Amino acid sequence: MKSEQDLLITIDGPAGAGKTTLSKILAERLGYRYIDTGALYRGVAFEAIHHGIASDDDQALKEMCSRLSLRFELMDKQLRLYSGEKDITDLLRTPEMAMKASAVSARPVVRSFLLDLQREIGLEKRVVFEGRDMGTVVFPEAEVKFFLDASPHIRAIRRFKEMKGASSQTLEEVERDIIQRDRNDSTRAVAPLKAADDAVRIDTTELTLDEAIEKMLKVVEKNARNPKLNE
Ligand code: DC
Repeated sequence: MKSEQDLLITIDGPAGAGKTTLSKILAERLGYRYIDTGALYRGVAFEAIHHGIASDDDQALKEMCSRLSLRFELMDKQLRLYSGEKDITDLLRTPEMAMKASAVSARPVVRSFLLDLQREIGLEKRVVFEGRDMGTVVFPEAEVKFFLDASPHIRAIRRFKEMKGASSQTLEEVERDIIQRDRNDSTRAVAPLKAADDAVRIDTTELTLDEAIEKMLKVVEKNARNPKLNE
């Protein structure tokens, strides 16, 4: 029987559904690594802004990606993203970077560049991958898939609390941005945000973190015991 040691877990869903917090806790509880793939898209966005590249300039994006070296490093239990030798982690979580990431993530040149990188990271298993297309496109064979969702209003409140001090946006502006990003992310032609057919859907609107984690751990446990996984 496969043990919980061997699994690859994917967590997809819209912004503010609780993916980051829950992915981190789940990974810690299982002794797994946690990978935030949104940070990779934000890393590409950061470099595109730095180089003055428009979100729809595929040629320039392609050239930039061919020279880009993005990698994660774990420091004091914290995941840091490096572009070349520069730690860009603290520069990624601004409203501007979120919107640019959403825009460049619709470009196939960017998605195919990051697809290879993500699959390379996933080779070792024992990873929780958080993103938008983890269970549908990047790891369709993952043993455990979650799709987290929550009402747009509660997602905006969570983002607003999280960004407190770091941005001058009002709650209304945060909610407007979230709805705009949801629309971009779920209507794009390539790898749109959607639940995989075999994903377990969890609506976190009315759940505490503990309740959500307990539900997720039960699913992981059940899948680890599923004899079908041994075929
Ligand atoms: O999870 P996040 O807010 O950091 O993601 C930023 C943007 O990156 C998001 O609006 C859509 C894009 N993204 C994606 O297209 N695919 C992923 N696997 C992760 C993020």
